Formats: sequence, structure tokens, C-alpha cells
Amino acid sequence: MQPRAGETFVDFTLGGAGHFAAFLPHLGPEGTAIGLDRDGEAIARAERLQKDWPPCKVFLRQARFSEAEGVLQELGVTGIDLALFDLGVSAFQVDDPTRGFSYLADGPLLMQMGSDKKKAMELVNGLGERELTQIISTLGEERYARRIAKSIVRKRKEGPIKTTLQLVDAVDSAVPPKAKGNLNAIRARVFQSIRIVTNDEMDELQSGLLGAIRYLLLGGRMGVISWQSLEDRTAKHTFKLYGPKGEKEQEWVLLPTTRKPVTASPEEIEQNRRARSAKLRVVTKARREGA
Ligand SMILES: C[S@@+](CC[C@H](N)C(=O)[O-])C[C@H]1O[C@@H](n2cnc3c(N)ncnc32)[C@H](O)[C@@H]1O
Repeated sequence: MQPRAGETFVDFTLGGAGHFAAFLPHLGPEGTAIGLDRDGEAIARAERLQKDWPPCKVFLRQARFSEAEGVLQELGVTGIDLALFDLGVSAFQVDDPTRGFSYLADGPLLMQMGSDKKKAMELVNGLGERELTQIISTLGEERYARRIAKSIVRKRKEGPIKTTLQLVDAVDSAVPPKAKGNLNAIRARVFQSIRIVTNDEMDELQSGLLGAIRYLLLGGRMGVISWQSLEDRTAKHTFKLYGPKGEKEQEWVLLPTTRKPVTASPEEIEQNRRARSAKLRVVTKARREGA
């Protein structure tokens, strides 16, 4: 994304502020860095880290993607040079069992990324079998969706499913013996699908990408790191829509900086297994030829 001195950078997914802190030295004291996250804990953590950061004009705000344009307006920002989205959940969120994102540790079935009210357990106990099947198959891309939804409905007749391991139990008992070797991948897909609905992630993503594209200045760069195919497809399609052959007709276009998305090298994956599913797409906003 080649951040340069004096530029304005918005990190829409501050998380543990790893990327954010890596951008700061490039922006320099005249640069502006705005860190947003829907999770108040991420903002509080970044505020504690701030004293160790190099000089730069820094603003940290709790906001969802759909609220980001409002924050930029409030800050008097009219255009940005750099926009970064690193989607999904952070390691801090997944590794904290009290937040209910992980199928590996027991905890309340919450999965709330921010301070929104919807909880995963309300969906798991409240939705009908058909809706659950639909969610698990489309957002989790899980082939045993129907069996798993049936099992969830059966289990909750014995009492509400309130914890992560109760949901794991419902998933496991639906998986046929021939697929038992694949249990963790199946659990991950089911948890992912419930998490996406709990946090309205697909609508949020669409709104965030469009807002960032609107705010991007000519010559500005935007990067999206996705962790699963639905996110990557959304980023790819949105960028294509505004690309040279896209159906949108404005005086600018989004040009990909690499032909294929950037993925982690084998060495990086060896150090950090979670990087294996990450894909980075970067585009530059450029004047349309002849415009
Ligand atoms: C993968 S982590 C980001 C990690 C970060 N890049 C780092 O270096 O530590 C994703 C973060 O995005 C936040 N997030 C996800 N969806 C969001 C949304 N719609 N609006 C705002 N923040 C969101 C999550 O709360 C989480 O903290």
C-alpha cells in the first residue's frame, strides 16, 4: 500500500493495532492515522499502546464500518489516502473464551464483536431449522448444514443451547462417521456462519467498502485482507464493479496493484498458522482514461 509521509490513513479494523503501528513511521509527524474498531476493548488496548508509537496525528474511535463515514465527518476529514480492512475476528477476541467465539474452549455463546445487542445464543435457540440450514450452508459453506440444523433443533428441546461447547456437541453429533476426521473444520464453518449473522458482517462489509471507496482520494490505496471466501468474493466483486470494465461510470477507476491477491509465504505460515487463509487485495483509485 506504500504509505508515505503526510498521508491520511484509516485502519477500519484496528484490532491489536499491529498493522496500525506498522503504518505510523511511514506517515510521519505530519501524517494522520485514524484507527476504528467496533470493539471497545480494541480501542482501549490501542490507547494504552499509544505512548510507544512514533509521532503522528492519531485518532482512535469505536465505530462499526457502517458508522465510519460519520466519524470521518466529525473529524473534519474530507478524503483519505490509505484505507485498510483486515476482516473477521482478532486473536484477542477468539482467544478469550468469555466472548464465545471459539469452539475450542467453553464459554457463553455470545460472539459479539462490539457492543451490539444481538447474541449468538439468541439465533441458535430462536431461528427455525430451515433458517439455520440456510445460514450454515450459505455463510459457512458447510455440506452437512441440514443435518447440523436438525441436531441443533433437537438438542435445544432438552434446554437452551447457552455455551460454545453445547453448540459443539450439537454439531459433532450430526456429523456422519466418515467425516469425523474433519470435525474441527466443520465446527469452524458452523461457528463462522453464526458469527457472521450475529454481527451482520456481510452488510457491514458492503457498507464499509463503499464508504471507504467514496472517501478515497485520487492516487489513494485501499487494502482488504480476507480470511474466508465470502469476504474475499465481496471485496473482489466490489473492486471489479469500480474497475476499468465495471458497470459504474465515474471519472475514476479502481486499479488492482497485483493481478492475484497476495498470500502468506510458506515461511510466514510456519511462524503463524492463522496466516494460511489470508488474502490481501489492494487497489489504487486513479483518474479514468479520457475523463
Ligand atoms: C482481524 S482483526 C484486525 C487485526 C489488526 N489488523 C491487527 O493488526 O491487530 C479484525 C478486527 O476488525 C473488527 N471488526 C470486524 N468487523 C467490523 C466492523 N463491521 N466494524 C468495525 N470493526 C470491525 C473486529 O472487532 C476486530 O477487532
